[in-house]
Amino acid sequence: MVLDDNAIQFAEQYKNITANQTYAKLKSVPRHGSTNTYDHSVRVARMAYSMAKILGVDPDSAARVGLLHDFCLVDYHKDDKDIHGGRWYCFYHPEDAVINSEKEGYYLSYKEKCAIWSHMFPLATSIPTSRLGYILTISDKVVATQESFANASEFFDRFKFLLNGGHIRTARVKNRNHNHMAEFK
Ligand SMILES: [Fe+2]
Ligand SMILES: [Fe+2]
Repeated sequence: MVLDDNAIQFAEQYKNITANQTYAKLKSVPRHGSTNTYDHSVRVARMAYSMAKILGVDPDSAARVGLLHDFCLVDYHKDDKDIHGGRWYCFYHPEDAVINSEKEGYYLSYKEKCAIWSHMFPLATSIPTSRLGYILTISDKVVATQESFANASEFFDRFKFLLNGGHIRTARVKNRNHNHMAEFK
């Protein structure tokens, strides 16, 4: 699943974050089976930005927490066994995201930090306490669901391809040969 043109343009608007070399490493951290953490964060930021505009919340703040909410370079598929004392990724990556954001010089208000810390609600150490927090956690879940379904539908497409290209075509060839032979009887 790749970013569409609108999402690429959106990422350009926030290149103070998206062009950061450390942040760009998120492109090599896989997410939800169909994408990477950079693309996922851009999608979440874009949805959070749109929701914030409708709900009267600062859209730039929503975009910022969307872009930074998963700023953790751990690949939870393979790298997180020995770090963070065996804690689950869902609990520690929001904390890492805030720490990494600050290391890279991004100022986050307390409300923005709370939104990031609680974005995995209900699998989080805190609950959202602001409209910004709810916008982030809802955007994250909607986008994650789309990405997970894209993975499932890709699998289903491959399965259909195998079915069409394999069994059905074989059956058609068998059927054609059978009819062909029948003409000579
Ligand atoms: Fe997350
Ligand atoms: Fe996320």
